[in-house]
Amino acid sequence: MQARGNWSSKFGFVMAAAGSAIGLGNIWKFPYVAGANGGGGFLLIYLAIVATIGFSVLMAELVIGRSTQRNPVGAIKRLQGGKWWPLIGYAGIITAFVILSYYVVVAGWTLAYIFKSASGLLATTDDKALGGMFTGFISDPVEPVLWAGAFTALTVFVVIGGVNQGLERSSRILMPALFGLVVILCIRSLTLPGAGAGWDFFTTPDWSKVTFQTVIDALGQAFFSLSLGMGTIITYGSYLSRDTDVVESGFTVVSLDTLIAVMAGVMILPAVFAFGLDPAAGPGLTFITLPHVFAQMTGGVFFGPLFFVLLAIAALTSAVSLLEVVTAYFVDELGWKRKTCTIWAGVVAFLLCIPSSLSLGVWSDATLFGKGFLDIMDFLATNLMLPIGGMAISLFVGWVVPKEMMDDFCSGNPKLGNLAKVWLFFVRIVSPLAIFVVLLNGLPFVAPYLPWN
Ligand code: TRP
Repeated sequence: MQARGNWSSKFGFVMAAAGSAIGLGNIWKFPYVAGANGGGGFLLIYLAIVATIGFSVLMAELVIGRSTQRNPVGAIKRLQGGKWWPLIGYAGIITAFVILSYYVVVAGWTLAYIFKSASGLLATTDDKALGGMFTGFISDPVEPVLWAGAFTALTVFVVIGGVNQGLERSSRILMPALFGLVVILCIRSLTLPGAGAGWDFFTTPDWSKVTFQTVIDALGQAFFSLSLGMGTIITYGSYLSRDTDVVESGFTVVSLDTLIAVMAGVMILPAVFAFGLDPAAGPGLTFITLPHVFAQMTGGVFFGPLFFVLLAIAALTSAVSLLEVVTAYFVDELGWKRKTCTIWAGVVAFLLCIPSSLSLGVWSDATLFGKGFLDIMDFLATNLMLPIGGMAISLFVGWVVPKEMMDDFCSGNPKLGNLAKVWLFFVRIVSPLAIFVVLLNGLPFVAPYLPWN
């Protein structure tokens, strides 16, 4: 147990968990998913999901991790999960690879954009040219793959460093810096002429655009953004000493993550409307809109590269948390050396990212249900594996080990008894049921066959 390492303080844990949560999901994905789903309605549904299902599942993962001090597979085994429940842990390892397969690709783009923006290549307000450069870059068969490889290598390097040196230290200083820069960019975006329409789009719900598809996108986005449903928070919670107040830590992580996502929306969407771009344009939204903002902003030559540096680091602390789930399993359960298994996992992640990247260019014709490899991986993880994982974790905590987990929820603070009862009601019934209903109605290959549709 000694050798496992612990966070040096509660603050260290909160920063590391927030570092896992805050990443491309907030800054790249949230604005374009909100944009594609009509804006305001999506935002409200997203916030409602985060406050209920999101928070309760996050707490479930935290208490499993902290009470057992184990990786997800070992944790559930130790809690008498029998034969079947540990599958949650194994599924989490697979999900980690599914997400990494495209996460490192997009993270590689941010690395490349550091250099592109520093070289002045992107210093134009011509959106057609910016769009063309983005599309040309991501569809190249070689360059983005190399950047993804470089990013994967960085991730492996940090994970090998271990909990205290690697994970914690990298999160403490850079997260606040990213926050400050996002605030500046929000102000710049909101003060652009014509930004008002984007603000209205993002804050005023248009319910005619909301369907079950919107709800499932919001649910998946909430799980993705909060790093839920695959054991990341179990793993991070396992490095937390047993006497810290988990409720306060969990609340802080959820709030910070949500704040950054909403701010990213305010940073991107008003600018999109000010420039007359399409909010439903998809994954390129951030990479096309922001260079335009930098190009016409005082100090843009400086802020541009700085922004992409900080975004790459935010992505790094998230990718590290994905890889850490794999590493913790091999180290704890199979007794591998930290270095060996992390390098192997990195090699596998890199191999998987190649088809993702190529699916945006030379392999764009290879599709299944109209989706390329990258889109399929994202759909599988976000809309399927994470919600199902979250549902299983909820049911496990709520029905298999409720007593132990309630005690752990309150440990260190007996005043939490009533809150623990509300939480138990959520993990037992509300969250699993809500996830089930949303999955059933929101999945394109199930919904049409339901009797009420
Ligand atoms: N939450 C991260 C982001 O928003 C991505 C991430 C890290 C993640 N670990 C995860 C997503 C575990 C799902 C599960 O960028």
